[in-house]
Amino acid sequence: MKYLFAGVVATLSMALLLGENNAGEKAKHTIPEVMAKAMKGGLCKKVATGKASDDEKKELVELFTSLTKNKPPMGDEKAWKKRTTALLEAAKKAAAGDAAGPKALGKLANCAACHKEHKG
Ligand code: HEC
Repeated sequence: MKYLFAGVVATLSMALLLGENNAGEKAKHTIPEVMAKAMKGGLCKKVATGKASDDEKKELVELFTSLTKNKPPMGDEKAWKKRTTALLEAAKKAAAGDAAGPKALGKLANCAACHKEHKG
């Protein structure tokens, strides 16, 4: 409950800070949703190993876009932004057919490292 409240407050102040151009643009998916589909569900791995279809690559970009817009239950927000933006950039490269994308994804999608810092 305490985390939830902190999250709501942070989300509200973020929305205020971001102002007009992001007005109404909330994350489409929650972090657990992204985890279930992209991480636990294996979509990220599929893209990282070059086995994903174009649609699946697009889906990963969408899921990681949400990830960057969410606030983690714990940890430094700047570190989170950096980590999730790197994941998003790698997914975008993969979707664009750049071989550097999948390669980077494999390294960046480090479950334990991110959970240690950000999973409440
Ligand atoms: C960029 C950081 C990051 C990476 C990388 C990451 N996770 Fe997570 N994961 C999180 C955060 C943050 C939470 C906690 C979400 C919450 O409680 O709101 C979480 C939660 C989860 C959950 C629980 C979801 C739930 O229903 O509460 C699972 C399962 C999970 N991650 C699996 C994985 C797996 C498997 C990988 C690696 C393939 C992975 N994650 C990589 C950040 C990450």
